[in-house]
Amino acid sequence: MSYKAKFRIWRGEGGEGKLEDFTVEVNEGEVVLDIIHRLQATQAPDLAVRWNCKAGKCGSCSMEINGKPRLGCMTRMSTFAEDETITVTPMRTFPVIKDLVTDVSFNYQKAREIPSFTPPADVKPGEYRMKQIDVERSQEFRKCIECFMCNNVCHVIRDHEENKVNFAGPRFLMRIAELDMHPYDVADRKDIAQDDHGLGYCNITKCCTEVCPEHIKITDNALIPMKERVVDRRYDPLVWLGNKILRR
Ligand code: SF4
Ligand code: F3S
Ligand code: FES
Repeated sequence: MSYKAKFRIWRGEGGEGKLEDFTVEVNEGEVVLDIIHRLQATQAPDLAVRWNCKAGKCGSCSMEINGKPRLGCMTRMSTFAEDETITVTPMRTFPVIKDLVTDVSFNYQKAREIPSFTPPADVKPGEYRMKQIDVERSQEFRKCIECFMCNNVCHVIRDHEENKVNFAGPRFLMRIAELDMHPYDVADRKDIAQDDHGLGYCNITKCCTEVCPEHIKITDNALIPMKERVVDRRYDPLVWLGNKILRR
């Protein structure tokens, strides 16, 4: 069964733009990205959208649909009423390049700032042995498809451009937590999480967890445990004393 849907889509570039109205055909089983492709093919050939896999795995097609961050390729049209106007806008936290395409280089910059996996010098590759529980813990975090919807929705940077320099966002605080939990990682990640990547800015609103298309429990399994690790380091007088003595 086909029907005509009403879409309002953000068009513009260089900080300027407006919502444009379209009426477009929808067929059974289609997703929002299908409709955007139909608009490109029929009414708006220059409508810009980033996508790649159309299978929820590349993380490219992040956008805001009716104000909520979603993957265009995983949002079924059957989610909406047929007479509903569907508003599609680019992710708000990142600068718009054109239409629905944002410049997400903030995220790659933050990724580069995190020191890489640092195994002990005396353990050679092939000698690493991990308990299954540690494997499973990091496997959850490695399901991340880098759609950056968690960073997009976090209020720390969504409404405060000035915080971007000091805050890596949930995706990369999760990466730090993953490395800190790795039994073979010997880098000291606790102080940099707090001081350089803004872990303290996170006040556990859990909006990041709510939008994650991979259903990663970012807040409960990465951010809160990382906060606990930092607190143990900073406020446990015995840990503090032990560090002092060892550093002498
Ligand atoms: Fe996307 Fe989830 Fe990864 Fe964040 S943690 S970038 S929401 S997949
Ligand atoms: Fe932001 Fe997630 Fe913390 S949305 S405030 S990083 S719990
Ligand atoms: Fe790859 Fe949507 S196109 S996640």
